[in-house]
Amino acid sequence: MKNKTDKAEEQKTREPTVENIRDLILDAKKKAYAETDSEPEPELTSTVEWPVTCTVGPGLEGAIACESKIGYVNGSKGWLIYRGYDIFDLCAYSTFEETSYLLLHGRLPSQSELTEFTTSLRERMFIPQTQRLMLSFPIETMNPMSALRLGTNLMRQKQTYRDRDSDTEVGEILATDDDTIPMETRPAGKKNPVFEFLTGLFKRVHPASADALVGSDEIESCYNLIAGVASVAATIGRTRAGRIPLEPLPECGFAGNYLYMVTGKRPTALEERIMDISLILHADHGMNASTFASMVVASTLSDIYLAIGAGISALSGPLHGGANVEVVKMLAEIGDPSNAGNWFRDTTAAKKKIMGFGHRVYKAYDPRARILGPISALLTENDATLKKTYATAVALEAEVVSELGATKKIFPNVDFYSGIVYSAMGIPRELYTTVFAVSRVAGWCARVVEYLENNRIFRPRALYTGTFDEKYIPPNER
Ligand code: SDX
Repeated sequence: MKNKTDKAEEQKTREPTVENIRDLILDAKKKAYAETDSEPEPELTSTVEWPVTCTVGPGLEGAIACESKIGYVNGSKGWLIYRGYDIFDLCAYSTFEETSYLLLHGRLPSQSELTEFTTSLRERMFIPQTQRLMLSFPIETMNPMSALRLGTNLMRQKQTYRDRDSDTEVGEILATDDDTIPMETRPAGKKNPVFEFLTGLFKRVHPASADALVGSDEIESCYNLIAGVASVAATIGRTRAGRIPLEPLPECGFAGNYLYMVTGKRPTALEERIMDISLILHADHGMNASTFASMVVASTLSDIYLAIGAGISALSGPLHGGANVEVVKMLAEIGDPSNAGNWFRDTTAAKKKIMGFGHRVYKAYDPRARILGPISALLTENDATLKKTYATAVALEAEVVSELGATKKIFPNVDFYSGIVYSAMGIPRELYTTVFAVSRVAGWCARVVEYLENNRIFRPRALYTGTFDEKYIPPNER
């Protein structure tokens, strides 16, 4: 029989701390690699000779759209790599600021670069002018992702540069929104036209290399977007709660400030760390629908704010980023772990998709779910309602994996546990997809800027299966 002190000791070790979160992640990494070790090693390449041959299915399944050094997903091994770094290691040791820098610039920053970048993002989260403009709209009754796209566009207007440029005449600012009108130029040695932002506020630099991007218009707008979309998302949360928007706290990092600005409460060190990990996990994921949408818009030389708006639009669908909200609704509908079996059988009999499961690429367990699952367990330990939700999720996962895992390679994806984590941190359910966007802006920006280095407008084909030689008949003879 355990005496009182042993039990208290055990409870204490179970209490989640920033340290044991790292252990949890490294344990998940060991388990992941052990489980997929028998899968064949991928054929990797460092150069591509275009045109490439690939077998393409509906929805561009299997199509190769471009080369990239930004991120790699291996579906059979369950690998997720950002710029060569394993996602488990980045979650165990990095921060969202550092990971965003890595995705954008292709290398980890030095300590001084990281300090400067962290400070810069915090300053750029300060967008009172945009927040004020947002309050001119019925944000509280809008679909949160529509509101996020609206707010991102409001950031685009030159007038929001008043957030940081207090001595500019209002008249001049309101006169035009030329801050991101692109000019197509063809610098010497470049194969294709280069997408260039023309603003009086930033020097014009042709991005000769990732490092040359620093200080260029492209990268300035990416920094503005990564920081500003988080503030816009938090403003939506505050407005929906009937509260006024908040400004970032000087002592908080990106994740902590997002949490503070949306909940109004200074997050604990543990909450800040878990938010940081969630943002790292969602930052990039190959050519997913929303990243591809951003790239397609940018490839027409539209501007990056509108390209990111396209990413927000694509992410909002329940088959993509919107699944995290649907999962929590689904778990509430199931209600109890004991109902999971019957619910699963009814749903599959009705040929309905189960939210939070399956993936176009992963035919193994999504590594992101391997981290978010155990974190959910830790966070819900002391909350009866959430503990039941988590237990229901575990029961459903057991049903799905036992019935569809081996046969159809259907496993939990990133959206299955993320909603439980957000709920435990006080984020309202309708904002879950906006949290996904707050993170994915980093991946969208990185891939847009990389693609524009050798831009070519996206223009796939459709196989025409219609008729020919139809004769026109005037309306009165039909
Ligand atoms: C994200 O692309 C990315 O990288 C996305 C993402 C990212 O980080 O950007 O990872 C984020 O979007 C994760 C996915 C979130 N969406 C969901 O959880 C919604 C539920 N999942 C499914 O809609 C589906 O799995 C997709 C959309 C994710 C993938 O769909 P596919 O690759 O087009 O697969 P499919 O619909 O062609 O299904 C293939 C088979 C079908 O069975 P058959 O008709 O061949 O008998 O698998 C079955 C499907 O019925 N299937 C499922 C299922 N997903 C696929 N059956 C039940 N439940 C599911 N969830």
